[in-house]
Amino acid sequence: MKIFIDSADIEEIRYAYSGGVIDGVTTNPSLIKKAVERLKTNNDKINMSAYIKQLLIVAKGTPVSLEVTASDFKGMVEQGKKIYKAFNPATRNVVIKIPVNPSLKKGDGKEYDGIKAIKNLTASNIPVNATLIFTPEQALMAAKAGARFVSPFAGRIDDDIRSKRKSKFSKTDYFPMEGITDKKGVTNDNGIVSGIDLVAEIVEIFREQNIKSEVLAASIRNPRQAREAAIVGAHIATLPFDVIKELLDHRKTMEGMIKFTKDIVPEYAKLLE
Ligand code: E4P
Repeated sequence: MKIFIDSADIEEIRYAYSGGVIDGVTTNPSLIKKAVERLKTNNDKINMSAYIKQLLIVAKGTPVSLEVTASDFKGMVEQGKKIYKAFNPATRNVVIKIPVNPSLKKGDGKEYDGIKAIKNLTASNIPVNATLIFTPEQALMAAKAGARFVSPFAGRIDDDIRSKRKSKFSKTDYFPMEGITDKKGVTNDNGIVSGIDLVAEIVEIFREQNIKSEVLAASIRNPRQAREAAIVGAHIATLPFDVIKELLDHRKTMEGMIKFTKDIVPEYAKLLE
């Protein structure tokens, strides 16, 4: 499974890439907002275009998803082409992120605009990451439209299922991939029992149907969920910076390091000088 970093913070991205095992970057307007706010607290001058160019360089040729902000077909295609033209020629790693369904109000007639935009950009050889996917059906439609990546939002589905149970939880809490069962049965969203279950169903459909789009497990909130994304066959998981660091964390590893460090005898130390 490839690992992307879900961040627009160049310092986080730089640090994550220093390990040599990160395969891409995903951003969204909320992550850009967070990065801009951090720059503002440092009183840094913000030149968004220069910032994005730098971010693309730091990603060393691996795919970086940049999201459109428009919510209609024409606007999304115009923005997608504009971003691609402005930034892709230098680093050749831009992917345009398009919401699978940009509708802001039920019945506003924009349900198909995401699919049409994905199809249009793909036809112009612009790679697309179809985002805000919450059902296997949406993933199937996005893949049919030609998306290179489809991004099911695992953590947000977990939030939604958990909120149906009205129990208190924090964003990074683990939610079991098999869901939660009570007397009434397993809590679900139209048959989906957890975010990882959503990822698993999409992986299975793509395998069954010989679909080439890659399943990019997004909205991953903790290392165990990342592990489960790998178990169910996600091609990629995009992880926040903290979760990437937690992938390497175990108290017994640190305890072992402290003990080994204490036990170094001078004879052995000299050998390794
Ligand atoms: C990535 O493409 C998504 O935008 C991101 O993973 C969403 O994560 P969140 O639900 O934790 O905000």
